[in-house]
Order: sequence, then structure tokens, then C-alpha cells
Amino acid sequence: MIEIRDLHKRFGALEVLKGIDTTVEEGEVVCLIGASGSGKSTLLRCVNGLETYEAGKIVFAGTTVDARSPDIRALRTHVTMVFQRFNLFPHRTALENVTEGPIYVKGEPRNEARERGLALLERMGLAEKAQAYPPQLSGGQQQRVAIARALAMRPKAILFDEPTSALDPELVGEVLGAMRSLADEGMTMLVVTHEMAFARDVADRVLFMHDGRILEEGLPSDILSNPKEARTRDFLSRIL
Ligand SMILES: Nc1ncnc2c1ncn2[C@@H]1O[C@H](COP(=O)(O)OP(=O)(O)OP(=O)(O)O)[C@@H](O)[C@H]1O
Ligand SMILES: [Mg+2]
Repeated sequence: MIEIRDLHKRFGALEVLKGIDTTVEEGEVVCLIGASGSGKSTLLRCVNGLETYEAGKIVFAGTTVDARSPDIRALRTHVTMVFQRFNLFPHRTALENVTEGPIYVKGEPRNEARERGLALLERMGLAEKAQAYPPQLSGGQQQRVAIARALAMRPKAILFDEPTSALDPELVGEVLGAMRSLADEGMTMLVVTHEMAFARDVADRVLFMHDGRILEEGLPSDILSNPKEARTRDFLSRIL
């Protein structure tokens, strides 16, 4: 589904991605861990076509990802992203936030988008919040609206960038639960997270990023319990 080959990305003089190679298969859940500044968000943003890159390639479902391509908006309907901070439109209701993309980007009929939007909100446990505005919702509820919005595009894959790290601890579980159910249904997911229990239980594979490279990857049980690299051990000992 996602193929990344020798990906290099710099911001001016700073090389942030120094040759990333990995693939994410259809239906696979891959968790990306690593210290702050190691390039996790940048990698996700490159996959989503939000950043250009200088060398290497990213292929999503057979199409090369190029942020400068006129087709990039279409690509972003196939691979959607959920960010750390719920970037919902504050002056639109939860339902309008969910139906915006299908109606304005994909040109779906309003009624259809609305019905599906309600079903998605219901699935996220938010049926009674469809008409609420984001400032009236808790962080966990907002983040579940953001997941419903990502799903509304009928994506082939969803990228999550620390979707729970801005939440109060008691709200983390409901969002991870929603993500876990997506994973169970076979959604292809690339997830940056520091929730190691989630990575251990849900991920098919864990990638450890260090300084713009994937230093180590493998089964969650191997990477999290028995890492080979000193840097991985060091990172895990700091966050566990
Ligand atoms: N738009 C930008 N312009 C310049 N430098 C940037 C930009 N975005 C990110 N960087 C730099 O690229 C490096 C990688 O950043 P990135 O956000 O990908 O890290 P991260 O692994 O997601 O970190 P965190 O865990 O803190 O979210 C950092 O040194 C950061 O300062
Ligand atoms: Mg980040």
C-alpha cells in the first residue's frame, strides 16, 4: 500500500530524513516511535503529500506521491491524516466537519454524505454530538470526530500523528479504542505514538526512528521487549 524508498528530506541546511526505506502492506498497522525531532511527523507529512522531498520515492497504492502534483488532493482522499491537535473547523458542527471533505472535495451528494457522516459519528460513539461545535466537545470527542472525518473520505490508509498526546490521560483510552477497532476491521494504518501498550497490542510492526533513519524495525514484541540497538533501549527506558 505504501512504499518508501531511500527517502531524503531537508529543511534548508538540516537533513531531516536521511534515507528511509520501508513498506506498509494493505491491512497492516505500523507504529512509528522515536525521540522528538527524529523525523516522524516529517515522514508522515511526506507520505500525505504535505511536504516535498529531494530524493528517493514514495508510492501509495501504485501512485507516486508528489506534493507538487495537481493530483495531490485526490491522493489525500485515499490516504488521510489525523493530527495531534484536533484541527477541526471550530465554527462548523461535528457533522459538518465530517461531511465537508466528501461534499466539497469528492463531490458526494449532500444527503448521502450526511447519512454516512451520522453513521460514522455513531460508530465513534458520538451520535448525540452531531450538532455540537468543537469547542463544546472534550478533547477525546474532538479527536474521535477527527477520526470520523478521516474515515469519511473512504481512505485506503490513515496516518495518525500522535493522536492522543494532547489529551488528558483519562481521554486517551476512548481514542485508542476507536483506533483499535479500525485496525481490527483491516484498515491500513501508520501511527506515530508513544502509547507503547497500543503498539504492543495492535501493531503488526514497530519502527524505531533515530535522527532521520529507521534504526530498527520488527515485531512489537521484539522491538519493545528485546531491542537490538542501544539507542532503542535507551529511548524505551526513558518513556516506559
Ligand atoms: N517546517 C519546518 N522547517 C524547518 N525545520 C523543520 C520543519 N518541520 C520540522 N523541522 C525540523 O525537522 C526535524 C524533525 O521534525 P519532526 O517534526 O519530523 O520530528 P518528530 O519526530 O515528529 O518530533 P516530535 O516527537 O517532537 O513530534 C526537527 O529538527 C524539526 O525542527
Ligand atoms: Mg512529531
